[in-house]
Amino acid sequence: MALRPIIILPDPKLRLISEKVERVDGALKKLMDDMIETMHDAPGVGLAAIQIAEPIRLVVIDVARKEEPPNPQVFINPEVVWSSDERSTYEEGCLSIPEYYAEVERPASIRARYLDRGGETREILAEGLLATVLQHEIDHLDGVLFIDHISKLKRDRVIKKFQKAAKRVGDGSHVL
Ligand code: NI
Repeated sequence: MALRPIIILPDPKLRLISEKVERVDGALKKLMDDMIETMHDAPGVGLAAIQIAEPIRLVVIDVARKEEPPNPQVFINPEVVWSSDERSTYEEGCLSIPEYYAEVERPASIRARYLDRGGETREILAEGLLATVLQHEIDHLDGVLFIDHISKLKRDRVIKKFQKAAKRVGDGSHVL
């Protein structure tokens, strides 16, 4: 397993539409393991492959509490097939937008279809934090960031802040 650098705003790759995974093979499993290690190290509760510059539809999530053993879950080609009318609000952050948090309202529960680590089709009814994280990560696969769900004023402000920071560093594409 290996830690992979996480790309951050304003890296244009974050806006790419990721490609569907066609084959669940050894290389993909290695990538899953690297992503899980990178997510745990960060630490974060979710990571989409595009955040380590791999534009494929692969997501890892671990919403286990600190006092619980790690419980990483892998979602390949995840898609939302149902979402509740009921909505909930969480304060969200993103490993690609470090140290910025904002409240985002989303459907409170969703049903998602995906392939598991073994390539089997599964469905999950996600509620609470898992529902939010899964929607946040599926957004990444379509080039959508959580700041797209907040006001334009706030979004422009945070984008400008990261553009300035990137200019200062000269290369804002990696968190080291
Ligand atoms: Ni994110």
